[in-house]
Amino acid sequence: MQKNKSNFPDWSGLIPILPDGGPRQRALYGELRRLIETRRLMPGEKLPPSRMLSQELGVSRGLVVGAYDQLIAEGYAETLQGSGTFVARDVPQASHAPAVARRRTVVKEVLPGTLGCGTADETTLRAFRQLFRKVLERPPETLFTYASPQGDIGLRQEVASYLRSARGMRVDPDQVMITSGTQASLYLIANAVLKRGDEVWMEDPGYKNARRALDEAGMRVVPVPVDREGLDPEKGRVLADNARAVYLTPSHQFPLGVTLTMPRRKALIEWASRVGAWIIEDDYDSEFRYTGAPLAALQGMDGEGRVIYLGTFSKVVLPGLRLGYAVVPEALFDKVLDLRKRVDRSPNALTEAVMAGFMREGHFSSHIRRARKRASNARDALVEGLSRGPFDIRSPDQGLHLIAGLKDAEEEGRMLNAAAEAGLGVQALSTMYRGNRMEHGLVIGFSGFEPQVLRAAAQRLVEAI
Ligand SMILES: Cc1ncc(COP(=O)(O)O)c(C=O)c1O
Repeated sequence: MQKNKSNFPDWSGLIPILPDGGPRQRALYGELRRLIETRRLMPGEKLPPSRMLSQELGVSRGLVVGAYDQLIAEGYAETLQGSGTFVARDVPQASHAPAVARRRTVVKEVLPGTLGCGTADETTLRAFRQLFRKVLERPPETLFTYASPQGDIGLRQEVASYLRSARGMRVDPDQVMITSGTQASLYLIANAVLKRGDEVWMEDPGYKNARRALDEAGMRVVPVPVDREGLDPEKGRVLADNARAVYLTPSHQFPLGVTLTMPRRKALIEWASRVGAWIIEDDYDSEFRYTGAPLAALQGMDGEGRVIYLGTFSKVVLPGLRLGYAVVPEALFDKVLDLRKRVDRSPNALTEAVMAGFMREGHFSSHIRRARKRASNARDALVEGLSRGPFDIRSPDQGLHLIAGLKDAEEEGRMLNAAAEAGLGVQALSTMYRGNRMEHGLVIGFSGFEPQVLRAAAQRLVEAI
């Protein structure tokens, strides 16, 4: 028989202090029975050894044994030779027992195609399991204290050296701040660096969560159109030349997938330097480049410290890690650090230590190679599955999503319904625009699902049309 294990919390809180006088064994029996009937003690759960419970409650051991015996005799508990006493699997339900709403873990069904699914495979998870064990076997001091609000130096060193070699950045570990992801980094930047009412350029179409963070911090977001060369700084200048900042995704524009061209990069940096604006560079998925060399990060071109660079482990590994980083120019660092201390004191030292080990021991680079290969297979399967539909698709050479273009709003609406019917997770491209001009289509992710699952869901969509 499979029994649930118990880690024996202190039960003196579960069981009210027993009356000093009177039938104490009966009182203990009654309390335990109530806990079993109301499912606070679950079928199969182990009861504490009688010696332990008697010490906790300050009663004799014989009294506890007597109460257990009565529960066993009435079918509320059972013994397993050599293992102890357990709540019975088929507990008799007292007619007066209140109906207890059983707590259920609600797992939201994630449809293939849903954006933002992680890319960790079994090999990566195995490495994480080993690293968590290793870190907990020899826990770092940072786990026992309030650690540095900037983040663990070991992880900052790894991140800095990765960004220097993989993203061509100028970065020192002292400039790196570990955060719980891009969303948290953006919150810090918007609230520590910018002021309510400041104008901030943002790509149109763009990343809704970034827009929300800026809106909520009281920014006046100025949507700047994106074309084949990325955000157009000339248009930004016409709309709001004196903006205090620009938020953008230059390596792989979200959602259109274009890369900011070199002339536009130069123009953007020149503008920022002239008006004293900050460039917030969100480099969320640059690890997933399938052909050709990636353009280095904008941060590496900036000689004046005007770029605030945001990176995340959400796309490249798992969103559930809640781990990211900001590379903050020296002039802003103290302000951002001060807010960070006030908001959440410091990062999670356990995941930091694990991620530092993951990078240091070479798992990160091999993970990226495997994840990139899997993502490109998944992309091909999705494109193939959609190929007979009425979509304008260009297979992306970067990133973890594609756009299946459609001609107008009516067609987009029809396809959204068909996708829901086919069980394909999609978002409407038009909802990511804020300006007047907009394009239509479906934004579909291809990370986190097997190629055949994506192909089949896409084919169901095409059939449902
Ligand atoms: C444009 C963009 N930036 C950043 C992120 C990652 O955000 P976070 O690090 O908060 O998980 C995403 C995730 O979907 C994204 O689409």
